[in-house]
Amino acid sequence: MRYVFAKDLQPGMILAQELLDSKGRVMVEKESSLSEFIIKKINKDGYDGVYIQDELSSDICIESALGISLWIKAMECVRLRNISQCKNVANEIVESLYGRKDISLDLSDFRTNENYIFAHSVNVAVLSCLVGMGFGMEVEELYNLTFAALIHDLGKLDISEEIRNKAGRLTKEEFQIMKSHAELSYELIKDRSDVSAHVKKAVRSHHENVDGSGYPDGILGDAQSIFTKILHVVDVYDALVSRSPYKRPYSPQETIEYLMGGCGLLFAQEVVSTLIKFVPMYPKGTEVELSDGRSGIIVENTGIHNLRPVVRLYDSTILDLAKPEHFNTTIQLKNYRRISEKYEWERKEMLGNGKRYRILIVDDMRTNLQMMQDMLGEDYDLILAKSGQQAISYIDKKDLPDLIMLDIDMPEMDGIETACQIRMRTEHKYIPIMFVTSLCDKETVMKCKSLNPESYIVRPYKPVYVRTEIKRILGGWGH
Ligand SMILES: [Fe+2]
Repeated sequence: MRYVFAKDLQPGMILAQELLDSKGRVMVEKESSLSEFIIKKINKDGYDGVYIQDELSSDICIESALGISLWIKAMECVRLRNISQCKNVANEIVESLYGRKDISLDLSDFRTNENYIFAHSVNVAVLSCLVGMGFGMEVEELYNLTFAALIHDLGKLDISEEIRNKAGRLTKEEFQIMKSHAELSYELIKDRSDVSAHVKKAVRSHHENVDGSGYPDGILGDAQSIFTKILHVVDVYDALVSRSPYKRPYSPQETIEYLMGGCGLLFAQEVVSTLIKFVPMYPKGTEVELSDGRSGIIVENTGIHNLRPVVRLYDSTILDLAKPEHFNTTIQLKNYRRISEKYEWERKEMLGNGKRYRILIVDDMRTNLQMMQDMLGEDYDLILAKSGQQAISYIDKKDLPDLIMLDIDMPEMDGIETACQIRMRTEHKYIPIMFVTSLCDKETVMKCKSLNPESYIVRPYKPVYVRTEIKRILGGWGH
């Protein structure tokens, strides 16, 4: 079987796995032939793609990490917010995964626009359990971790759909309401004697960052439990790779780059390292292009850290890229590249009718400004300022930017002072601030935190991390 993106489906293609409707019922049996009507429905419901069976890929077998009936059951108990049932199902998930080798985390997660929260919860449960296994946790611990993962977002169901599914930037007030979901989830379980304290804590804290900048309590990494750290990383991973009503999917590589870039700030490094062992950079059944121009399909993922899969070329040659003689052949996920460009464009349209966002970048180093220009100039309108004073005089005179990126260590007026001045002058309109700096001593970090910036990035950074943070802030899909 191979993975075909929804927009590339053709009538007559044979479905390799059951297709579920938004209520979790089997809508089309596997091995059915796709009709025009079904293809339209797949696209309308928001499926990203499906597995199909054909000669080209008949030897590629992909088993979902969970059997379909358990998947449906798990989504259902989340939908009903039945905590006791969620607890039982979490145990079943652990039992079906525990001790299994070669678990394939493929792309079939039955996620549609309508069932996004339920499917996300099940995915986070499966992946958290795997990461827990990677940490060598005992079964009892895995039961609790998986249970916490399954119910972590239940509080979102108390938030209006209008805010939850808003296809655009949330206002500051809406974002505050959205952020309350962690506490709302906690409220549902806090008085229950059948839910352990570890689970309660992890549910409440699943948006806490290791540098203390998360919510609701701003807990530092040292004070966070391993459950909290796992839930946080896995939650963000799944949200980024999946399509949702308000964002398009990121490729697994982009997502991993983002998580690695956020290690020590947002995410616990040991969790990110463990997660990487379980998630395929190149999911089985996807089409790839090699640096020598040849194309093929991913057959197996047995290489080093999922980085060097086995590829079957269209002429049936098998290439094991983990073998040293193939190390210099690089891989590109064909469809993802194409798709993410297309989605980016659609997303921009969706967010602001093609509006280009304006970013004010303040840094006293010419080389830093140049670097930002190279990295962001194509996608955004940039205003470059060499000092705090220059930035402030811009703010006083011109239209306000959509985002301000500030260096901290600048002569005369430093970034923190500049941010204070700007905040005072723009009380009527909230402009997100992002610090980009080489300074990460405690005092500076605490001073910055008191200004409530949207982001704090320490040099050297990964460009993909900065770009993703900007998209997150401007797109309003803050985690
Ligand atoms: Fe959440």
